[in-house]
Amino acid sequence: MTSSFDVVVIGGGPGGYNAAIRASQLGLSVACVEKRDTMKLGGTCLNVGCIPSKALLHASEAYHHAQTSFAALGVKIKGLEVDLKQMLKQKDDAVEGLTGGIDYLFKKNKITSYFGWGSIPEKGKVAVAKDDGSTETISAKNIIIATGSEPMALPGIEFDEKVIISSTGALDLKKIPEHLVVVGGGVIGLELGSVWRRLGAKVTVVEFLDRITPGMDADVAKQFMRILKKQGMDFMLGTKVTGIDSKGGKATITVEPSAGGDAKTLQADAVLIAIGRRPFTDKVGLDGLGIKVDKRGFIEVDKHFRTGVEGIYAIGDCIPGPMLAHKAEEEAVAVAEIIAGKPGHVNYNTIPGVVYTDPEVATVGQTEEQLKEAGIAYKVGKFPFGANSRAKTNHQTDGFVKVLADAKTDRVLGVHMIGVAVGELIAEAGLVMEFGGASEDIARTCHAHPTRSEALRQAAMGVEGWTMQA
Ligand code: FAD
Ligand code: NAI
Repeated sequence: MTSSFDVVVIGGGPGGYNAAIRASQLGLSVACVEKRDTMKLGGTCLNVGCIPSKALLHASEAYHHAQTSFAALGVKIKGLEVDLKQMLKQKDDAVEGLTGGIDYLFKKNKITSYFGWGSIPEKGKVAVAKDDGSTETISAKNIIIATGSEPMALPGIEFDEKVIISSTGALDLKKIPEHLVVVGGGVIGLELGSVWRRLGAKVTVVEFLDRITPGMDADVAKQFMRILKKQGMDFMLGTKVTGIDSKGGKATITVEPSAGGDAKTLQADAVLIAIGRRPFTDKVGLDGLGIKVDKRGFIEVDKHFRTGVEGIYAIGDCIPGPMLAHKAEEEAVAVAEIIAGKPGHVNYNTIPGVVYTDPEVATVGQTEEQLKEAGIAYKVGKFPFGANSRAKTNHQTDGFVKVLADAKTDRVLGVHMIGVAVGELIAEAGLVMEFGGASEDIARTCHAHPTRSEALRQAAMGVEGWTMQA
């Protein structure tokens, strides 16, 4: 007998598992198909992405603080050392705990899990190819493709995950490399580069463009690079990698100026390729169904996440937009609600982005460069953490908050921050923007003292020129 469901989701990441849960909450019968060898739900995010990277960032940050800032606080430590095995274990424990949590949520919501490769042989059917060689076909009134993304390699260079590594290898190095070369000054390169830098590696970031984190507000990106340099990270901007030779556990990386010029080589124990991710839609059956993908392989959908084929939707990293877990989650809720006949939608303008370095970087809405390009008249309010009492008390004064508001209406258009814990602070800015709020709404809201959130308030006051504490 063929099993039959209202909704079958292909992919058990933040897109897939949240869609499954929300659809089930709305009374639909739901199954989720996941191909991961470990049979763990949670996708890239929980298994080899957000969670393990944050576990290593947290642990390495603790070590770095103990090494560099505890003494000034009057805390002396003797015999401080890194126990890499334990550091990796606590990372694996975090993954184990959280992926297990999705199993619990699936049981609680009566969602059926299938482990195997999901594909769509025809409308209304999902085939699950299992490890034992068998294939089970299930019927689905609605199918959600949430198959995510995978790391991009440099042309002609393959990951061995030991010397030439993707983020997955960089989350599990068994030895601290003496020299780690990072190709790509984006989010992965800077987060995982920070981890290994703090643990003692020399880290060189090779970035094709003449700046790091393209797309990020330029003020913030500039300050970010200054701080990372102070932490000992080296940067080769405007530089491209033309070859990598890996022999005897070492890599020789050939680089030259992006615009052309003399080549030189770098020697490294590992080279992390972090030049972006590509949508993963291999062998799902898109071609046979006539589902369109764009030039970069992202599935094309309308604003209701419908592919051109009736009853087949797509969400998350495999469709265009920021490749972020919380973006996938937003789309998951929206698509489940749309399938259940409700008006689901996603406001892409209020999706925050956070880089979990120390200090953190957090942004929401439009950058100053985007506003200029769009010809939108805006006002700026800025406040440095150097003038924030909590930041000063804790000796963590790097960074600032910048609020961009419409020059006429005062509506908040973007908020960009760099500083300790701003990844939490950005939620306030997102909420104000979601309500269509003005900078004055932030400026006239009482913020607890002493907190870093006061810096956001002072920056908002600055939009109308009445910052009081700097
Ligand atoms: P995925 O999480 O990739 O899940 C897709 C799932 O589908 C996978 O489990 C895959 O095995 C499965 N699958 C694929 N094809 C099939 C098939 N045919 N049949 C069955 N199953 C299939 N984002 C953040 O917001 N914050 C962060 O801090 C953050 N940190 C990151 C750190 C790293 C190192 C990386 C690599 C990514 C990070 N991301 C972060 C990005 C985040 O992980 C992704 O945006 C998010 O996981 C996308 O969710 P998704 O459900 O679309 O896809
Ligand atoms: P990215 O798009 O953030 O950065 C890639 C960088 O590599 C860019 O600066 C680009 O100019 C550069 N680049 C591209 N080709 C190059 C080349 N040939 N040589 C040198 N530099 C080159 O991609 P990244 O860091 O791989 O991350 C992938 C995705 O994962 C991102 O879209 C991000 O959203 C997500 N992610 C999110 C995190 C977070 O939210 N904290 C953490 C980690 C990943």
